[in-house]
Order: sequence, then C-alpha cells, then structure tokens
Amino acid sequence: MAQSLRINHDISSLDGYVSIQNDHRHLREPVTLRQDRWDALAPGELNMNLLAQNRIIGQSRGPESLHFDVLRTRIFAEISKQNWTKLAIVSPTHGCGKTNVALNLAMSFSKQSDSRTILLDLDFQAPAISRLMGMGNGPALSSCLLAQEEFGHIAKRFGTSLAVAGDEHPADLQSDLLCSQKLSDALATIEHVYQPGLMLVDTPPMLQFHDIADITPHIDCALLVIDAQSTAAREVDLCERDLARQTNVLGIVLNKCHESECEYQVL
Ligand SMILES: Nc1ncnc2c1ncn2[C@@H]1O[C@H](COP(=O)(O)OP(=O)(O)OP(=O)(O)O)[C@@H](O)[C@H]1O
Ligand SMILES: [Mg+2]
Repeated sequence: MAQSLRINHDISSLDGYVSIQNDHRHLREPVTLRQDRWDALAPGELNMNLLAQNRIIGQSRGPESLHFDVLRTRIFAEISKQNWTKLAIVSPTHGCGKTNVALNLAMSFSKQSDSRTILLDLDFQAPAISRLMGMGNGPALSSCLLAQEEFGHIAKRFGTSLAVAGDEHPADLQSDLLCSQKLSDALATIEHVYQPGLMLVDTPPMLQFHDIADITPHIDCALLVIDAQSTAAREVDLCERDLARQTNVLGIVLNKCHESECEYQVL
C-alpha cells in the first residue's frame, strides 16, 4: 500500500509517507554539458501576486511552503534512490488539486539552485499551468509534441533551475498528442538536451476523459493526489490499483485536508 501525506495550506502537521532524508543532496550531479541550452530558454518572471492568488506558495522560503518542501524532500529521497527522473502528478477526478501540487512542488524543487526541474502540462484538454503562472499566449507544448516547435522555443525558464511548458488553450489534437509516439519522443529529446534532475508532469484526471495508460509508459513514477473532502474511497482504491499496475506509485497526497474535519488515515 502507498503511504500518504496530507496537504493543507493552512496547517502544519505531516504524517506517513517515506522518511525524510538529507535535503542538501543534489538531484543528480549538476550537469554543465547542456548549460548553454538551459540558459538560452526564454526567461519568465514570477508574478508574486498572481502566484499567491492561485495558491502557489512553494517558492516561498518561509513556513507557508513547509508542506511542499517536506513533500519535495521525500520525493527527492525516493527518486534519487531509484534513479528515476520523470514523475506524473495524477488524481482520480477533476479538481483534486494535482495542478496545484505539481506547481507548488516544481516551485519547491526550484529552490534547489544546483539542479534542474522541468514542469510540463500534459492536461491538453484543460491546460492550466501557463495561465496560473501568467506565461502568456506563446507557442505551446502541444506544438512541441507535434514537432512544429522546439522545446527551446516554447518553454520558459524561471530563475536558474526551473523550466515550465504548457498550453494556454485546450489543444484540438489532445488524444493524438498523448496516444502516439510523439510524447515519448518529445520527452526523450527534452531529457537528452536539457538533462533535468526531475521532470514533473501534470495530467488529466484518471477517471475522466483520458486513459492514464497513455502517459504511464513514458514516466518513472506517479504521485496520486486526492481531495480529502470529496474523493470517494472506491475511487482512491481503483486509481491506486490501476496506477500500481502501470508504474511506481510514490504515495498519496491528501489535499484540502482540514485538521478539524478529516482524520488522517493510511490508505
Ligand atoms: N490544498 C488546497 N486548499 C484549498 N484549495 C485548493 C487546494 N489545492 C487546490 N485548491 C484549489 O482547488 C481548485 C482545483 O485545484 P487544481 O486545479 O489544482 O485541481 P486539478 O486536480 O488540477 O483539477 P483538474 O483536473 O480540473 O485539472 C483550484 O481552484 C485550486 O486553487
Ligand atoms: Mg489540473
């Protein structure tokens, strides 16, 4: 059974999940080989007001980002041990908070200035990351997957260690994008050229619209985000089993879990 961690932006307690390990180790050794390509990515600017409005707090160095920093540390410990680099953030249904967790985790990882993290929005039917970060209406990740644009032209680099790519609008060909060899090729190229320590991918809801099996062959592991207020136990069970058949399940995040309302339980 996967272990779990509950996340609430207003509380500070944490339970379960994998143990905390040394936070000062690097996500792989820093690679200088592709530094020029990384540096050449168009710089994006963090709009702090927009981030706060959208509940993106992982970039903070204060106590508000504690949950995500702890989650980052635990993920880091596990993926380093296993030599994994591609992590999908998944959830059973809409609105559980996977985009929020993906963004906050990416921000938290970006505080490790000597490693590279790439965040990709693979929810082509309802992309949100570009909008939530105020990235504007530039060329989209879907065009990169269709080999119409290079990743270097569509991604934005925030600071020295985070690059983000997504679509501003729903893509017409979303099923083609996920079903085909294109996703595999694109991820392989991005990994080869930019050599990130971690690629985080946001995904469509597992039990709606799309089969997560289109994505799992291309990633190393997954983190299941559930809405502690509304996700049914049978949905968690179904998704956890389904995921475990397809990839490595790092754990479960109980999102929107208010201390007073929801008892912690290992799922
Ligand atoms: N821990 C939290 N506390 C309060 N609100 C949250 C929390 N996490 C996410 N939200 C809010 O819940 C809504 C849904 O979150 P989010 O978009 O991240 O979910 P999602 O799983 O990506 O949904 P979708 O499947 O539609 O893409 C957003 O308005 C977000 O700001
Ligand atoms: Mg989302």
